[in-house]
Amino acid sequence: MYRERATEPLVAARAAGRAGVGAYTSSFGRWDRLAGVRTRTQRSFTASGSLYFPPELHPVATHPVVTRRGAEQVEWLLLRRLHDYLDFTTELESLAVIPVVTAISRGRSGLHLPEGMRADAFKIVTDEAWHAQASYDFAHQVQRASAVPVGRPHSGPPAFTERLDVIRDRLPHEIRGVEAIVFAIVSETLISGILSEIPRDERLPRSLRDHVRDHAEDEGRHHVYFRAVLRHLWAALTPKERRAVGPHVPAAIYAFLAPDYARAIEDLRMLGLPERSVEQVVEESWPEERVVRDVSEASRPLVRYFAEVGALDDPGTRNAFEEAGLLGRD
Ligand SMILES: [Fe+2]
Ligand SMILES: [Fe+2]
Repeated sequence: MYRERATEPLVAARAAGRAGVGAYTSSFGRWDRLAGVRTRTQRSFTASGSLYFPPELHPVATHPVVTRRGAEQVEWLLLRRLHDYLDFTTELESLAVIPVVTAISRGRSGLHLPEGMRADAFKIVTDEAWHAQASYDFAHQVQRASAVPVGRPHSGPPAFTERLDVIRDRLPHEIRGVEAIVFAIVSETLISGILSEIPRDERLPRSLRDHVRDHAEDEGRHHVYFRAVLRHLWAALTPKERRAVGPHVPAAIYAFLAPDYARAIEDLRMLGLPERSVEQVVEESWPEERVVRDVSEASRPLVRYFAEVGALDDPGTRNAFEEAGLLGRD
């Protein structure tokens, strides 16, 4: 098993190393002086005010059925959302990003990448391990300050894990594993957008804003890197493989950006809402058109990157993006 693990590529792309990908320009030249793990220590959470997550990003907390029940319940829901956000970060780094960058660093991605990209992948492994650790520690500080516990003993991991399993099951056997690289590209190019809102939100505790800003600064470099990974991935896939993978990209985008409904439902039940109200709050907080609009807006730069590498030239792939509402009006 270990021998296999040391040699088996993540993607068995047959057309590795085609021309036309362009030169790689590293964004990690000053990593030693810029990376959060090198330049900053763990932020200490200090409670202030009563808002711990932007309510606009968690609309169930401000649904009238919930607000009628009092400010304490709203605050509790937002603290739970903050815990989920921190847990999501730790899980994403550990499960979705670190394995992919580790494979790249050891030459096991299955892609033909320039030496500089392999060397930079080690730095991303280090960055992400630090982000996972810092989020885990920060969550425990929030727990101590708020008495709202970390973790969900009665439910599973974040929704993206199950959504990724569905994508993997739908892929032809010979190309399985590619979903890991696609999801790393999706999450690493979209996370910087998500992280940019919290630091600017002056209603939130300063320590939380600083914690997220630290993460966002590293992710700016990762965004550039994974945009380059996408160029290499698409160049490495045969036309048949592209046709097999492309239509699943929208599902990978939704896997990352769509709300974690199961966790919201669990929280509303814990507040004692009757089942009918739970359903009503979730449906009215996240009507389908709102989710599609939010996902479409957030993923716009990434959709452009897929268009740039030619992914949307395949009619099946373009159709899947269109049906998922990702092509907007442009
Ligand atoms: Fe990260
Ligand atoms: Fe990252």
